[in-house]
Amino acid sequence: MSSELPDWLRQRLLAAGGSVPFAIYMEWVLHDPDHGAYGSGRLRIGRQGDFVTAPSLSADFAALVARQLIAWLEALLPHTAERLSLVETGPGEGSLALDLATWISAERPELAQRLELVLVEPNPGMAARQRLLLQACPWPTRWVSFGELAADPVTGVVLAHEVLDALAVERIVADGSLWRRQMVTLHGEQLRLEAGEPLEPQLLAQLEPLGLAQPGPQRQAPWCSELHPGLAPWLAACGRGLRCGQLLVIDYAQEAWRYYAPQRSNGTLLAYRAQQASDDPLREPGGWDLTAHLCLESLQQAAASSGWRPLGQCRQGQALLALGLAERLHGLQQEPELGLEVLLQRREALLRLVDPAALGDFRWVAFARGMEVDNAPPPLFAREPHHD
Ligand SMILES: C[S@@+](CC[C@H](N)C(=O)[O-])C[C@H]1O[C@@H](n2cnc3c(N)ncnc32)[C@H](O)[C@@H]1O
Repeated sequence: MSSELPDWLRQRLLAAGGSVPFAIYMEWVLHDPDHGAYGSGRLRIGRQGDFVTAPSLSADFAALVARQLIAWLEALLPHTAERLSLVETGPGEGSLALDLATWISAERPELAQRLELVLVEPNPGMAARQRLLLQACPWPTRWVSFGELAADPVTGVVLAHEVLDALAVERIVADGSLWRRQMVTLHGEQLRLEAGEPLEPQLLAQLEPLGLAQPGPQRQAPWCSELHPGLAPWLAACGRGLRCGQLLVIDYAQEAWRYYAPQRSNGTLLAYRAQQASDDPLREPGGWDLTAHLCLESLQQAAASSGWRPLGQCRQGQALLALGLAERLHGLQQEPELGLEVLLQRREALLRLVDPAALGDFRWVAFARGMEVDNAPPPLFAREPHHD
């Protein structure tokens, strides 16, 4: 149920017959270039904004991620005489890209000479802010779509930090022995979530490999969860743009048994604004971020279907410790010139990044593609392809 129905959305729903699948609604309210929360650039990321992400807490995050990126990029150097690309998808405010470029330039000036920064950001409102911030980037910088990248694929590393959780999800509702698609329906001036038609075979096919072809007796109405139909097309489009290199996905993700556990009866979808969370996705449409966790198996299947080879995965806490977080924390105490306030803030941010009840539970999932990387070095953060 919701109030505050904007006129643009009413008109769009009427034009669609009064009801649309949840994924279409989510796409509109997040990514419509005029009215969407990201499309219009209304959402702000950071402590003073609508929600925080790891890079918005502290540049120390970029310094740790950079260790992994440097290892991969240096190993790719012999594979091309051309520039290597660091591609960031969904760069948000642009701060991670800037911090990475600044850090890598300081740590590895020779490598940095060979690098360009490529940003893939479909939302014009967000891209406008990135362009302002990244005027300070020490590398050649360009914004492209995946389609443009596919026309002239690059060699390098693609980073997807909290991007895949912004792709529109379908919501599925248990109804006895079958799944139905959740619809967003207009009733006068109100929006409602309602169960629609039984799930079509294409969506059902995503549940079958997870052993969830039917809801089963433990999932009774109004049990609902999400499916990620946008993952496979996104990974395929991303893959067409990368001739050779690695993809690092960092996001909230869970194994299917946890994601679709009978006791998780309302899925993982949440709305965020002004550092508040809500489980009502119909609230002030276009004013809130909507985000859903990823299902690890669905991510891995979607990646395999477009030729990505799994390199390894682990929780963020483990990954950052493997990349030197403890040493960094210790090193802060050797820098008295920082001042107490800065020191405490950086310390708090580093601890939040590994807190298993918060950002430390994020997953780092790495993939590779391109003939030349068949012998690619494994990630520094996870030595086994399915390490957990
Ligand atoms: C949750 S924000 C994360 C921003 C940043 N990576 C961070 O962690 O601070 C999601 C970002 O992904 C962008 N985005 C949404 N859909 C996308 C897509 N299909 N491809 C690339 N970026 C997308 C949004 O506009 C936004 O910049």
